[in-house]
Amino acid sequence: MPLGPLFSEAELIIRLGEPVDAPVLAELGRRTFLETFYKVVPKQAMLTYLAAAFQKEKITSEIEQNAATYFLVFLAKTPVGYAKVRDDRPPEVLKNGNATELERIYVLQNYIGQGIGHQLYQFVENHCKNKEYAVIWLSVWQNNQLALSFYEKLGFKPRQNYTFYVSGIPYQNLILSKDLTLIA
Ligand SMILES: CC(C)(COP(=O)(O)OP(=O)(O)OC[C@H]1O[C@@H](n2cnc3c(N)ncnc32)[C@H](O)[C@@H]1OP(=O)(O)O)[C@@H](O)C(=O)NCCC(=O)NCCS
Repeated sequence: MPLGPLFSEAELIIRLGEPVDAPVLAELGRRTFLETFYKVVPKQAMLTYLAAAFQKEKITSEIEQNAATYFLVFLAKTPVGYAKVRDDRPPEVLKNGNATELERIYVLQNYIGQGIGHQLYQFVENHCKNKEYAVIWLSVWQNNQLALSFYEKLGFKPRQNYTFYVSGIPYQNLILSKDLTLIA
């Protein structure tokens, strides 16, 4: 069981990412993906994926073009986590559902289990509800028990299987979704 917030609310700041944040988001993206999957993804495949998926130029362009929305969480001014949503590739099962994807939600290893992810998720969910999305969905590796438990407690339900590729290596994922229209 996490001990609960070990920080004062005043120290925790969550805000939208701006183009100027791209270097920080790229670094957070690489570090958190590596921390989470270094035992799962072989080294060369990991290095290839990290180099391609978290380029600061790509992140800048995504923000400037409104192709994705990023969220940053700071603890005492230090960036400790981020999230990313996009709405351009709903899975078949949600094609007609006005759905948005939580593509990434990651907290640095040293800070997980302290309530930060929960607050970050609530911020993202409120943002998506304000944008009038009806459904939020995500894909999670089927063996990522901690994340699965996190999403289950937030009200996500399994929808379908999905194969996620890291540098060509297939990983069995699950697509989960949550109806945003039922929440006050
Ligand atoms: C999933 C993640 C964003 C949750 O953020 P967090 O700050 O750890 O979550 P919180 O502290 O707010 O909530 C913890 C809850 O999440 C679960 N949890 C997930 N990872 C946990 C961890 N390492 N330690 C303790 N609880 C964890 C627990 O079920 C816990 O539930 P509880 O509070 O009812 O006991 C974060 O653990 C993380 O970045 N994990 C690694 C990256 C990852 O797997 N991201 C999702 C990819 S799909």
